This record gives sequence, structure tokens and C-alpha cells, in this order.
Amino acid sequence: MEENLNIPAHVAIILDGNGRWAKEKGMPRNYGHMQGAKAVEDILVDARDLGIKYLTVYAFSTENWSRPEAEVSALMTILRNYLKTSIKKSMKNNVRCRVIGERSALSDDINAAITELEEATAGNTGLTFTIAINYGGRDEITRAVRRAAKKVESGEISADDITEEMIAQNLDTNYMPDPDLLIRTCNEQRISNYLLWQCAYTEFYFTPVAWPDFNKDELVKAIEAYSGRTRKFGGLKT
Ligand code: IPE
Ligand code: IPE
Ligand code: MG
Repeated sequence: MEENLNIPAHVAIILDGNGRWAKEKGMPRNYGHMQGAKAVEDILVDARDLGIKYLTVYAFSTENWSRPEAEVSALMTILRNYLKTSIKKSMKNNVRCRVIGERSALSDDINAAITELEEATAGNTGLTFTIAINYGGRDEITRAVRRAAKKVESGEISADDITEEMIAQNLDTNYMPDPDLLIRTCNEQRISNYLLWQCAYTEFYFTPVAWPDFNKDELVKAIEAYSGRTRKFGGLKT
């Protein structure tokens, strides 16, 4: 089947269900997050093997700070470790890593790990892997608009110079095309503040599989579903 697939250039994923997956096994939620991080590592290689150029995963939302402090801190520990171990693996797999989201709320050492990972992998030409950390679509658009407003304030541009292109260039995602396919796992069918601007014409795919169980077969199923869709962008033809 794989050879007939229409491979999307950019796949975005809302990794969901780590907690429920663990609970079902009688394990703590944080165990689910640890297994979820492993699933990300694996899917990255599978995505590259399938020919996907951009993979963007939602790891921590601007709303996730409202979780219990112990869970937030466990998630930060997992992210910290992930960022650190990613350098070696990304170099091996020719993966360029980037992080989107508002960074000032993250600890200094996480910020340092992000910078180190981004700089070390900047020259890699294979898949571009983006992790959304303290990311919210509304926050991202607000920051972009604020930047534009400051330019108007300083007289650098006039209000009429603010175009869709300018807003898009000021988003954290300015180096990537919009997602072709958005996958959300574990039975939830909402966007939860992810890539709001960028998903204007993205195809959505929902699966009951919890994130830690998501694997290459599941990714291929999502791409099969995508391959059967007719992309439309408001007009009559694609
Ligand atoms: C996704 O799993 C990971 C993060 C949001 C960080 P959840 O933690 O949301 O798992 P559920 O949805 O509670 O099962
Ligand atoms: C969205 O998942 C955020 C991430 C996957 C990081 P959540 O599990 O936090 O979203 P809601 O609260 O169910 O919408
Ligand atoms: Mg969830």
C-alpha cells in the first residue's frame, strides 16, 4: 500500500492520551508521558522514512501550566532530557530541530538546551522536526500582532502594511509550510489552541489510539485516509 500513498509534506500531531493510557495500565500519568516521549522518537524516524519533510508535535500548551505542579514539573524534566538526547539522534538522522512557543516562561536550562539543539542541527537537510513547548495559537498570533503594532508605533510601517503575509512571517512557524495533515490521538476531536492560523486548510485525522501506542502502522493509516481526500482551498478545483 505504501507506494500508492500521497505523502503530506507537513504533518502536525496533537499527542494526546498519555495519562489515560497509563491509567488503564494502573500506572502513574507520568509513566504515560515517558512512554509518549519514546513514541515521538520512533515516529520521527518513521516520518522521515515515509518522506515527510516537516513534523510538528504539540508537547506542552500554554494551558498545560494549569495541571498539577508535580505533573508540570515531570513534563519539564522529560522535555529537558528529550532536548538533550535529541542532538546525537538528530545528527545521526539528518534531522533539523526547532522549537515553537513562548520561551520566556521556560527555565534557563531548558532555554539553553533548546538553543543548543537548534544550533547543532541547523545545517541538517532531512526532515524538520518542530516541538511546540509553551505553545498556544492565540498567544503566537498575539505576539505577531504586537510586533506589527510596534512597527506601526515607531513609524517603520503604516497600518495598511499589515497583511496576511506579514502576520505569517511573524509567527513562530515562519520557516515551515502550513500543515497538510493534522493528527490527534485518543478520541479527542478538538484543536486545543494548536496552530490556529496555520490549520486554515489542513486536513484533520482523528484516531482512538492513545499516543504511546501510536506507531508507523497508525501513521500509515492516517496518511492513507489523507491520500483519499480531495484537498480544497475554497475554490472548485484543487
Ligand atoms: C498528552 O497526554 C500529553 C500532554 C498534553 C502533555 P495527556 O497528558 O493530555 O493525556 P490525557 O489526555 O490526560 O490522557
Ligand atoms: C493538548 O492536549 C496539548 C498537548 C498535546 C500538549 P490536552 O490534553 O492538554 O488538551 P485538552 O485540555 O484535552 O483540550
Ligand atoms: Mg489530553
